[in-house]
Amino acid sequence: MVEAEDLQSLKTIALLGGCRGPIWLSSQSLGNELGISPQTASRRLIALERQQFIIRSMKPDGQYVAVTQKGGQALKREYTDYVRIFNPEQRQYVLAGTVISGLGEGRYYMSIPHYKELFGECLGFEPFPGTLNIRLDAASIEVRKHLDHAGWIDVPGFTADERTFGGARVLPCRIDGRRCAIVEPSRTHYPEDIIEVIAGCELRNVLNLNDNDTIEVEITHD
Ligand code: CDP
Repeated sequence: MVEAEDLQSLKTIALLGGCRGPIWLSSQSLGNELGISPQTASRRLIALERQQFIIRSMKPDGQYVAVTQKGGQALKREYTDYVRIFNPEQRQYVLAGTVISGLGEGRYYMSIPHYKELFGECLGFEPFPGTLNIRLDAASIEVRKHLDHAGWIDVPGFTADERTFGGARVLPCRIDGRRCAIVEPSRTHYPEDIIEVIAGCELRNVLNLNDNDTIEVEITHD
């Protein structure tokens, strides 16, 4: 979770244009915008940089600050919360299907610390170690074909212990209002009627789901 004061500072930097490119920003000017002292503003900038929400560079005329992709994603999550509050009907796509069991591979991959960390950074929640497999109904298989243009986030592959772990892409979604994400491994051909979903909690437990239960996955306007 992102701290409220970090989000507030990040939003201010974005409003000053920091998502579109580096903007000139001193601790004094950020302090003025936020109604806090330059010292506090300086600490906030350090905290944002440490979490890789912004990057800073020094030029002869002072400090320049830009919001990183990760920072932009944190703001976008806030935005989608507000969309839900003020526009609860605004749903982009809904996929419906039934819960099925897989081969336990999700748990293996989602237990690898580096994957956990990468997914967590992209999505803003630490994923429960596993993936919930869903078999889509016939209509949803068609809906899924439109999802290529939705807001997928790329998760890069990496090498650890002399093994290569492939990348994936994730699409933020909601099940029963809870933040989840559809995961698709890169370079793997996946059956068109199955999706795998990760979440911050054990969905079977929290939503009391068993195999063959029907379930809706909602892709919101992100
Ligand atoms: O065995 P399978 O491949 O279906 O699943 P897994 O990825 O190894 O995950 C272990 C168990 O947790 C399975 O029963 C999943 O359906 C479930 N799960 C869940 O309830 N909530 C999640 N967010 C992820 C997985």
